[in-house]
Amino acid sequence: MDRWVDKVAVVTGASSGIGWAITQDLLKCGMVVVGLARRLQQMEDLKEELDSSIRERFYPRSCDMTLLPSVKSNFHWVEQRFHRLHVLINNAGMMEMTKVLDEGNEAALQRVIDVNLIGTVNCTKQAYRVMEATMAQGEACHIVTVNSLLGHMVPPHIPECGLNLYPVAKHALHTLHEVLRRELFPHKLMRLSSISPGLTRTDFGGTPTDDEKRTCEELIEPDEILLPEDVARGVNFILSSPPHVTIVDLVIVPTREKY
Ligand SMILES: NC(=O)c1ccc[n+]([C@@H]2O[C@H](COP(=O)([O-])OP(=O)(O)OC[C@H]3O[C@@H](n4cnc5c(N)ncnc54)[C@H](OP(=O)(O)O)[C@@H]3O)[C@@H](O)[C@H]2O)c1
Repeated sequence: MDRWVDKVAVVTGASSGIGWAITQDLLKCGMVVVGLARRLQQMEDLKEELDSSIRERFYPRSCDMTLLPSVKSNFHWVEQRFHRLHVLINNAGMMEMTKVLDEGNEAALQRVIDVNLIGTVNCTKQAYRVMEATMAQGEACHIVTVNSLLGHMVPPHIPECGLNLYPVAKHALHTLHEVLRRELFPHKLMRLSSISPGLTRTDFGGTPTDDEKRTCEELIEPDEILLPEDVARGVNFILSSPPHVTIVDLVIVPTREKY
């Protein structure tokens, strides 16, 4: 990771779970990290827990991925503050507990697409604008999207109410990367990767119902679920690969996960 020391990263969804684990890892590797999420105070509190040697390199910023002006103003801030951007971690995501065919859930389904897909598209576009100028200075850039095992398949054994358009958005992110790979091909200094975790211990999806807990426990022993740090280690592996190597998609699942 030596080549990324003092380079600038944006991590979306840095206020909890996988995003916070990735943020800490990049800070420990010597990067400057701008964290974007709606819960600014939560990020400020987490910042206080950081070792003083890395704390000052963490810049938490309030951002709602569903609002284009919010995304744009944050990347303008990055441009004005640092004049360059080397790494984007598209991590922010959410799911809603409803079924596609339920009545009256249109707003929830729209949110799933707006955060997981459109938010990622908008962040990538805004990051690319700053990265283009960075690459013009001869510096390398890397965009990593946190996808999901559910971006590759739709398992029959996961509580169906939490699936709805979430796997649809994650499958779309997989295809988005293939489209972007073609658009970005002329840029020799740009790499594009995904990481697709299976079940990971975070607050994702809120508190599970008893039925959901039972289904998950049948699926996998609770102590064998991935930890956010496992995913962060995967991102570290992607970023530390030699410049001529691109990890296109790193699928990482708990050893005992049935899929
Ligand atoms: N946990 C799993 O089992 C699992 C498995 C595979 C993939 N993933 C993926 O991993 C990523 C991180 O999820 P996690 O498990 O770490 O869950 P998490 O702890 O709930 O983190 C989700 C993050 O996304 C942010 N976010 C949600 N809506 C947002 C919005 N409108 N604007 C800005 N930020 C928003 C949240 O920040 P605020 O609430 O502060 O805005 C939070 O920081 C997601 O993309 C998820 O799809 C998770």
